[in-house]
Formats: sequence, C-alpha cells, structure tokens
Amino acid sequence: RSSDGVRRFHLNLRAGRTEFLPGKKAATWGVNGSYLGPTLRASRGDRVAIRVANRVDEATSLHWHGMRVPAPMDGGPHQLIAPRGVWSPEWTIDQPAASTWYHPHPHGRTALHVYRGIAGMFIIDDRDAPDLPRAYGVDDIPLIIQDPTFRPDGSLDESAVTRGRFGFTGDSILVNGTYEPVLRVRAARVRFRLLNASGSRVYQVGFGDGRRFHLIATDVGLLRAPLEVGRVKLSPGERAEVLVDFAPGDRVTLNSVGERHKGAAPIEKGDFDLLAIAAAGRLAPAAPMPSRLSDSGPIEPPPGARVRRFVLGGLEINGRTMDMARIDEVVPAGATEIWEVHNTAFAHTFHIHGVGFSVLDVDGAPPFPQLRGLKDTVFVHANGKLRLAVTFGEHADPANPYMYHCHILRHEDQGMMGQFLVV
Ligand code: C2O
Ligand code: CU
Ligand code: CU
Repeated sequence: RSSDGVRRFHLNLRAGRTEFLPGKKAATWGVNGSYLGPTLRASRGDRVAIRVANRVDEATSLHWHGMRVPAPMDGGPHQLIAPRGVWSPEWTIDQPAASTWYHPHPHGRTALHVYRGIAGMFIIDDRDAPDLPRAYGVDDIPLIIQDPTFRPDGSLDESAVTRGRFGFTGDSILVNGTYEPVLRVRAARVRFRLLNASGSRVYQVGFGDGRRFHLIATDVGLLRAPLEVGRVKLSPGERAEVLVDFAPGDRVTLNSVGERHKGAAPIEKGDFDLLAIAAAGRLAPAAPMPSRLSDSGPIEPPPGARVRRFVLGGLEINGRTMDMARIDEVVPAGATEIWEVHNTAFAHTFHIHGVGFSVLDVDGAPPFPQLRGLKDTVFVHANGKLRLAVTFGEHADPANPYMYHCHILRHEDQGMMGQFLVV
C-alpha cells in the first residue's frame, strides 16, 4: 500500500522456460515469473491500481474473473494490450470476501494463453468475515488445477488447444504449476482455495481416504454456514474454498473422481491424483469451526423481475456466435434479474462477468447444497435448464460491454459468448 492509500500491483506478462518434468524445460508464459502468476490479495474497500505490462509477443488481455469492476477495467476482449503495451486498470473493491482469479481474454486465443500459463488468484479479504484460517501458504493455500499434455521432451503440447470442437483435455495434472506436487501441512485445519483453471476438464475433488471436509465458499462468497461434503465438483472457471482437518502424521491424496453415470460428458470423466499431502508430526491447533460464515442468503429476485432466456446450442447462445460489434443485452444498473439458461446440447458452463448470482433451480428442482453459495460460473449439464438470480453492478456504462460465455475455453474461443451493457 502506498502513501496515498492505494494498493499497487505490477504484473509483467512474459515468456519464460519452466521445468515441469525433471531435467526438461518447456517454453511457457507467466506473470512476473515463468508460469502462472502471484496471488494478489486486497481487502474490501481497498482502492487497487494495477500496472499490466505485456511482454509476450501477442496481443492479450487480463480479466478479473469474479471481480465486480467497472466495464472498462474488466480486461475482456475489448481491453487488448498490444505487445510492449501497458494497461493500468484501477478500481475500488466493493464485494464480500472471495477467491477470484485473473486470466487473459483475447477473443479466439483465450484457451491458448491460459494454457501457456497466464493465470493467478486474487483473494479478497473482508473485515466482516468470520475467523477463518488466513495465513497464506501455512493454513490458507490456493490450489490451481490444470491439465496439460506434455511432449516427450517436456514441452507443453499446444497442438490440440486451438483445434476441434469440444476443447482440449490433457493427460497430466499440474497444481500451482507443479507436476506430481507434494504438500507438507503444519496445521490441524487448512483452508484450500480450489480453482479449476483448466480449459475444459471438470473435476470432482475429494480425498483418497474418503475423508469428509467442509465447503465454506463458492465462486464469489462465503456460504451461510460450513457444509460437510465428501466431494466438490468444479467445472472450468469455478472456485471453492474448503476446510480440511488433518491428524499428526497423516498421509493422504487429494484426488478427482470422474462421473460414472451414463449421461456424463467426456470432460467429466477420468480419475486423477491431484496432490499428495503429508501432515507433520505436530500440528498447529485449529480454532473452533465457525457456525455462521455470512449473513447473505441467496439472491431473491423481486416480484416481476425481468426474465431473460439464453438457449445454449452446440456453440451458439440464442442461435448466435460472438460479434465484438453487437450488444446482445442491455441491463439496468443495480437490477436483479432472472437469467434462464436452457442447454439444448452437450455440457457447457455459463459465466457472467461482473456479477454474483444464485442458482434458483436446476431442472425445476432446488439446487444441490453445493450450488447454494454465491456464484459467477456454473456447470450446465447436457439438456439442463437452470434459473439464475443475478444482481448487476451499479457502474453504468453505455459504451463498454461485459461478457457472458461458456467457460469451456475452446467453446468461448469459437464464439460461445455474448455481450451486455449495464446502463
Ligand atoms: Cu474467466 Cu470471461 O472469464
Ligand atoms: Cu469472468
Ligand atoms: Cu461450452
């Protein structure tokens, strides 16, 4: 924080070389380092000013996924940064505690730029939040999950990322950019901030020994109360915060188990080990589990709330693909609306920029408890129908749109995206 009370961050998007597989180097991109970027952290009410310098040889952008920012600061496809260019967004954080993230968003190239390694987490703290583990790297640990494929020489195989219809699923797992990661924990209770930063793959995260844990937050906010779960499903772009208890000397694997039911999409299949965890022989004791996490319940649409329908096809939304020059929806600032997402095709995800939403129902039934927190991205199964209660920000801007899109990045790149203005 500088003397004027503004939190300043300098982010250099750059090319580098990363050793994922022992003794082998891969050409990668990263933010300040060679792969992925620093975790940014600021508090509700802070003014943040970020200097993003593009030192890669392609135009790109940096989008604050989950952050409620004025549209010109959003970092979407209209805020491209040319090679050697600099972009300096600035905003005041005005939203509850959350694990948000940043990633590039150049239209048609997002999957590749994220795959090369530009992504990171942006944690929002809130003085009103309850007492939860928050010692970064000790009992508050981000876990960014990705699924590259490596060539025999240890480089990232990019060949499939910009091809095909369904998007790329890799055969290896990286957590925080590390292949076959091992984590030593020294606390009896650890908060993991899970982020699915993969292009297409869906994970169901849990533990090899079946231990249960507590879900405390979804994409953009804490739940009302901790929810005991055995697995958490994360489609691309989604986050979850969980509290996990360890006993001294524990050895356990964080893993992902694929969907086995007949209707499961290929991106939901496959079992993976994510992270080997070894607990120390002596662990810092855990504070009591808070019974209440936040007062904010689900968003309740007012009577007569405007309803908009979004029909998802193979790669279209409402029969159209992305046109940078077309505004698809115009929403009044501060409005709460019902967005009905009706999937007539295979699995997609639905993400809306600059908002939080509650899932009202899935196929007409109340959502699973895991979907009851505040979200910005949601998995939409084949032929699924979801209704979302969406609250839009107060920043009116008749010129600069926000995006809504499928967060399967290959779908987004092929045009499964629309634009809305908040006026
Ligand atoms: Cu993760 Cu349009 O964003
Ligand atoms: Cu976003
Ligand atoms: Cu999709």
